[in-house]
Amino acid sequence: MCGIVGAVGLINCGDTLLDALRRLEYRGYDSAGIVTHNGNGFEIARSVGKLTSLDSLVRKKPLGGNIGIGHTRWATHGGVTEENAHPHIAADRVVIVHNGIIENHRQLRSRLEQVGHVFRSDTDSEVLAHLYVDALNTGLSLTEATRNVLDAIEGAYAFAALANDYPDMLVVARNASPLAIGLGDKASFIGSDAIALAHLTRRVIYLKDNDFAIVKAEGATVFDVNGISVERDEVIVAASPGLVDKGGYRHYMEKEIHEQPDAIAHSLAAMTGTDGRIAAPMSREQLQGISSIVMLAAGTSHYASLVARYWIEGLARVPVTCEIASEYRYRKPVTNHFSMAIAISQSGESLDTLMAMRHAAESGLQTVGLVNVPGSTVAREADVVMPTRAGPEIGVASTKAFTAQLTVLISFSVALAEAKRVITPERANKIHSQIQALPGLVGRALTSFNSIRTISHDLASARSALFLGRDVLYPLALEGALKLKELSYIHAEGFASGEMKHGPIALIEDGLPVIAMLAADELLGKAASNLREASARGGNIILLTDERAVSEVDFAQSVITVPYIDPLLAPILLAVPAQILAYLTAVEKGTDVDQPRNLAKSVTVE
Ligand code: G6P
Repeated sequence: MCGIVGAVGLINCGDTLLDALRRLEYRGYDSAGIVTHNGNGFEIARSVGKLTSLDSLVRKKPLGGNIGIGHTRWATHGGVTEENAHPHIAADRVVIVHNGIIENHRQLRSRLEQVGHVFRSDTDSEVLAHLYVDALNTGLSLTEATRNVLDAIEGAYAFAALANDYPDMLVVARNASPLAIGLGDKASFIGSDAIALAHLTRRVIYLKDNDFAIVKAEGATVFDVNGISVERDEVIVAASPGLVDKGGYRHYMEKEIHEQPDAIAHSLAAMTGTDGRIAAPMSREQLQGISSIVMLAAGTSHYASLVARYWIEGLARVPVTCEIASEYRYRKPVTNHFSMAIAISQSGESLDTLMAMRHAAESGLQTVGLVNVPGSTVAREADVVMPTRAGPEIGVASTKAFTAQLTVLISFSVALAEAKRVITPERANKIHSQIQALPGLVGRALTSFNSIRTISHDLASARSALFLGRDVLYPLALEGALKLKELSYIHAEGFASGEMKHGPIALIEDGLPVIAMLAADELLGKAASNLREASARGGNIILLTDERAVSEVDFAQSVITVPYIDPLLAPILLAVPAQILAYLTAVEKGTDVDQPRNLAKSVTVE
């Protein structure tokens, strides 16, 4: 999704801005641009495509000046063209970069056009620059003009502006979209997240919704919605060396797949009490008071919630509903029978999930944020934070964050079941020891990497594929299908194995890849029969299974085996070959693995 960066106080800040933009590449984008002010006027470079194009423009014609802003754009309003790329400039007087959507841009644009403003792009963002010019023309100061602009616009946004009349300051504002201000030594910075600034400073201020700030080399002054100067806490963000480093792997995704044993171990540590037992970040009384839970999430995080529903209901006997975040608040859900909402988000910035969580909070539910990015908006706004500690996930397709989420969720399920005394100590201890074994077992599952290459080679030529699973493996089938389609652009669907006979079996024809997930659980016989039905109709069965269940199936064309684990935890282990399969198929097809087309890492628009 769009990324914003800015710097003031650094000599020739063009290169610094480009470097900061590189750190936001993981968010997904399709064009980019930078503008600086050289003391006399603006110097601007914009280009469609990857940052390498912008980089070569800047190499040919370096941008001078010690103040500037930059942007990576993920198109929402208007096609992917240079004219639509940010920064947008109005009347040679104000430049802006923007993330989010200005919902009333049409009305604003037509009003501005009527008074002579000429627009050069199809974007909603450009109105910001013209609104500033309009306000400055009436003699307002930059601060007053900002108040005017904020009063005029509706929607979710984060933006930065630089005015010709004020060449020593940036103005930034946010509402629902993320924005961080970095404080350095005689220089200040802005970024969509702290990752963009990690190489420049660890001192960060996060703006609250409807705040704006004037950012100068010597620091930032923050104003609240009423234009009153306010103090916002400065936080020290964790240093993250090697952030933009692929660690010797070909892609971030490959690296992140291999980081899963660590991601799981660190996330587990966050759910372990001083006595070495599983603990949730809540008191026993709070856990006992949970009567029912609604889980709110998008994409891969939603599939984590679907797995967790089996665990929480099965172990703790607490009813759970899983909601797609973008659907939740608009369908006016009945909320009074829920006591808790768990918002699951790797980034903590998905606007759909944030808005759903806010809706739950307004409806009186206690909110829990299960997030991977500390300091993210969901983390800051939730009543309770249950962190995953997967480390920065750069590949757009989520891998280590997913298995880390599952690790935290199974731990939470056990803690809840124990607090409610609905699990025997023997069963709780057994699951606990299996959770403890996860890092090692996931490490062993990773050894299947090379053996999956041949299967991926064949899968790469398929036009379509089915993923099947039963019980806890059903949501994993959905996630497996999502991984394959988002990375390799092969059409894929996930189904509950038992549901095949009610419709999807009609899709099976000779050679159709059917990726089947199977664990040695009590439904093994039934799940194997469902697969046999697909095999009998010509399906090319690719089996992802464990060492015990494998002996039950003699009809699969290909088999990938992971170590045996309690079937309840099988989704965590079998996620690994599903990810590797999607990854290697994408590599085989030559797609952009870390930044698949049209996708963004954290989607900050609704
Ligand atoms: C985007 C990403 C997905 C991700 C989803 C939710 O659509 O492309 O990979 O699962 O957002 O992201 P979150 O950060 O909220 O978990």
